[in-house]
Amino acid sequence: MNGEDNYFGTLYQRFPVNVARGKGAMLWDTSGKQYIDCMGGYGVALVGHCNDRVVNAIKKQADALITAHMSVYNETRLEFLKKMAAVAPEGLTKMFFTNSGTESVEAALKFARKFTGKPGVIAMNGAYHGKTFGALSVTYNEKYRKSFMPLLEGVKFVPYSDPSKLEEAIDDSVGAVILEPIQGETGIIVPPDDLIPKIREICTRKNIVLIFDEIQAGLGRTGKMWAGQNWNTTPDIICLAKGIAGGVPMGLVITKPEIMDAIKLGEHSSTFGGSPLACAAGSATIEALTTDGLVDNAAKTGKYFREKLMGLKEKHKVIREVRGLGMMLGVELRFEVKDVLFDGISHGLLMLYSGRNIIRLLPPLVMDEATVSRAVEIMDAVLTREEQRRNVS
Ligand SMILES: Cc1ncc(COP(=O)(O)O)c(C=O)c1O
Repeated sequence: MNGEDNYFGTLYQRFPVNVARGKGAMLWDTSGKQYIDCMGGYGVALVGHCNDRVVNAIKKQADALITAHMSVYNETRLEFLKKMAAVAPEGLTKMFFTNSGTESVEAALKFARKFTGKPGVIAMNGAYHGKTFGALSVTYNEKYRKSFMPLLEGVKFVPYSDPSKLEEAIDDSVGAVILEPIQGETGIIVPPDDLIPKIREICTRKNIVLIFDEIQAGLGRTGKMWAGQNWNTTPDIICLAKGIAGGVPMGLVITKPEIMDAIKLGEHSSTFGGSPLACAAGSATIEALTTDGLVDNAAKTGKYFREKLMGLKEKHKVIREVRGLGMMLGVELRFEVKDVLFDGISHGLLMLYSGRNIIRLLPPLVMDEATVSRAVEIMDAVLTREEQRRNVS
């Protein structure tokens, strides 16, 4: 598109759009063409592109101090920690800063192992937790794993929807269970209502650390601050990243105090973690989510979006299923979505995929109903064209 590819390998599926500017739920390319952003930077543009609070906080902090290692104290960091503590799931009170999702998962796996003294981890079929060696070890997709064996020992995968298989897999070596309350990368898989509480009950009874990876589903995305709240369930460790600092790289692990207290001086660390710049952006993000009502908007507009998509499903037989919660939505088609995504881009709509045949929508939580309606109109036209091309009616 713009020559960037000359400097990269072919590691990313790339889309033909050269973005230059963003505001709220909108993006503009270098020619000035406008796009409705339902890709949302893979979930990073949580509080909207260039959210005013975030931009102002970054500008102010950049003038004062950009970097401060965790070995020294900083008031901006303290402010973020207090704000996060005020909204964190009950009982999760100790935090560790990382810089990405996969790093949050790495930290969570290490913390759980140190606390329990047990190396075994149970993860779910279909899980996506990142691609560094530890996180990759609990990521299910063979495509990501196969060239990098051996991975961590002691990881077992069980079907996400069957807690009896989880219970069977637990032996004396297992210290932790990790799961995404809603599986994102695998296609917006929402669990049945009793599943998450049942897994919580098993982990409590068997003394196993339960880790929720809310990197994609947390921070208001599903219409509740925490995805686990949809089933009134709290984990022992929660992993966060993506939109936590309005687009500035930041990850966070929040744990029960006894888990963090088991980690001794120097056993884990991060040079960049907890930088004042990221913390200032993080505080602004929490304010946007709470004071500006973005979590509530995710619930309300997300419901509207889902209803509109259900309407599309009535009209287009190529839609197999619509699923999701809040602003985390999936549309499963009966064929590959690649051409649909590219046609969407030509007509001013950015969408994301999940596997080969699922459209994943992770719009910024600031999106309003009028924009949703426009997005769904574009999807409608795109699907009609695709059906005509494929001779499906
Ligand atoms: C649920 C989940 N966990 C972990 C990750 C990895 O995060 P990152 O790409 O920031 O390392 C992602 C990224 O998509 C994710 O969706």
